[in-house]
Amino acid sequence: MKYSFGLAAAALLLDSTLATPLEMVARQGSGSGQGPYAPGTYKTDSGLASHTIYYPKKDMGTEKMPVLVWGNGACSNQGTSNSALLQNIASYGFLAIAEGAPNGGGTSDKNTMGQAVNWIAKVAGTGAYANVDASKIMVAGFSCGGVEAMDNIWNANVKTVGVISSGLLQNQTAAKDFKKPILFVLGGSGDIAYANGERDFKALPNGTPSWKGNIPVGHGGTLGDANGGRFGKVILNWLLYTFKNQTSGLDYLKSGYKADSWQVETHQLDLLQPF
Ligand SMILES: *[C@@H]1O[C@H](CO)[C@@H](O)[C@H](O)[C@H]1NC(C)=O
Ligand SMILES: *[C@@H]1O[C@H](CO)[C@@H](O)[C@H](O)[C@H]1NC(C)=O
Repeated sequence: MKYSFGLAAAALLLDSTLATPLEMVARQGSGSGQGPYAPGTYKTDSGLASHTIYYPKKDMGTEKMPVLVWGNGACSNQGTSNSALLQNIASYGFLAIAEGAPNGGGTSDKNTMGQAVNWIAKVAGTGAYANVDASKIMVAGFSCGGVEAMDNIWNANVKTVGVISSGLLQNQTAAKDFKKPILFVLGGSGDIAYANGERDFKALPNGTPSWKGNIPVGHGGTLGDANGGRFGKVILNWLLYTFKNQTSGLDYLKSGYKADSWQVETHQLDLLQPF
């Protein structure tokens, strides 16, 4: 058991998305995404220099922007490693903050994510972030980033958590105390994180709404596809319902996923309410 746990841990630390950095750069161009405020693009801010900030280019008028804080695979500080996914989410009227500068390097930990959560909570409502709604912050991440997201569930600024091809590695029983709505997106039994993600979903206590889906695409699945592919679609629909009260998001979580061949289990999804 110890050995297989160590193996899984190593894989979660060392993995990367399927596309090479060059392919990623080619996809970015001047932004992308299919939402009403497309294109989504990114910038940096000297106030949070070690991160990448994704935003919609189109003016949103007075509509408020909820926030997604994203942790990368391999605990990497490469803020554009999931840019296809995050530009698309931004194009729907969200601010997304990824760990690391664009094409940056180095290693992140749970504090890298927590720093972004606390920074945006502080600057929301001011200057360039005047229309950011800090009462709506989701943390999510891929692989190591998913562990970081779970480690940040205790941050009072965080409302909901997304675990993408991931599951707890150290304190493996913590999920029994999770009270915030939590999303699990897994790549099937061939995903190195499958067993840990399944275990954490099953451990959730009474009263915690959750959606867990698998498609047999392996670790990281479709994140490198245009707009983050089917993984991205689930994350987006979770955000659209919980933070923008769009019933189309809930419809996808309840039944729309079938058209995309997800194997789904839910835990008290009827308790999931928009914030
Ligand atoms: C796991 O334990 C560490 C160290 O005590 C803690 O900082 C972290 O928040 C814990 N993670 C979860 C998901 O509870
Ligand atoms: C969500 O929309 C429904 C239907 O329009 C409305 O009744 C409800 O108050 C809204 N909830 C929030 C939190 O805005």
